[in-house]
Amino acid sequence: GRVAVLLGGTSSEREVSLDSGRNVLEALRGRGVDAQPVDGIPALAKALAAGQFDRVFNVLHGHNGGGEDGIVQGLMDAFGVPYTGSDVLGSALSMDKIRTKQVWLSLGLPTPRYVRLGKGSDVHAAARELGLPVIVKPANEGSSVGVSRVFDDAQLDDAVALAARYEGELLMEQLIEGDELTVAVLGAQALPSIRIVPKGQWYDYNAKYIAEDTQYLCPGLEGEAEAEIRRIALAAFQAAGCAGWGRVDVMRDRASGQFYLLEVNTAPGMTSHSLVPKAARQLGVEFDELCWRILEQTVA
Ligand code: DAL
Ligand code: MG
Repeated sequence: GRVAVLLGGTSSEREVSLDSGRNVLEALRGRGVDAQPVDGIPALAKALAAGQFDRVFNVLHGHNGGGEDGIVQGLMDAFGVPYTGSDVLGSALSMDKIRTKQVWLSLGLPTPRYVRLGKGSDVHAAARELGLPVIVKPANEGSSVGVSRVFDDAQLDDAVALAARYEGELLMEQLIEGDELTVAVLGAQALPSIRIVPKGQWYDYNAKYIAEDTQYLCPGLEGEAEAEIRRIALAAFQAAGCAGWGRVDVMRDRASGQFYLLEVNTAPGMTSHSLVPKAARQLGVEFDELCWRILEQTVA
């Protein structure tokens, strides 16, 4: 049957999603799949109402017209059309970094200490409570949009103002200094971790999509540490109600070696710079095979 590749949309990650979607489309077509691009949720709603598609491959990133917050999953459920990735619950929960952390903490899974910032919160008191450095981020964005690292109290107001440009709550977290790692999940399997070594200070939007000098090591760790990160990432993914495929971002404290879970991405990037394809390649699974395996899960 026909497959819609859901991409684009209106979130802050639109450009990333268009890039991901083009790659997925090309890969599926290369495998002989009858796949068509569909840009955004209103267009998908029309196409589903017209019975144009039997399945949806979702690489619509973000929220606010993105496809990672449960809204489009509800739409696809309503039409009874199978789709890649997590369901309504897993998507909606994972989009909300604060409530995801609460679930993890309730299960004893490690995540950085945090304060939720609402209207009228004393952000300086919050920073004192956590202890500098901290990281300030919108609770519901991706690709490091609106995220700042704060080492000095004087930087705090600007960091909060930047994050507040995006909708929803703000999150202030203890900044874990050490290695940035990520673990892709495919089905019930955690893939080899990737350790990200940005040339700049950290893995920001530029290092993610633009810079050509960001280094990726895969597997990111060795021995017991590699086994441990895969274990906690898979546990974190499943605890958040996620399924199919996704990617769990993790920090490893330089001094203690302790892991800290940051978030789950339920429709991770599939650009040429993206991480899930790199992890799959380490196992000998090339990009078109990866797309095929993700799509296959919708017929289970
Ligand atoms: N939010 C971007 C697309 C990612 O996690 O890959
Ligand atoms: Mg993200």
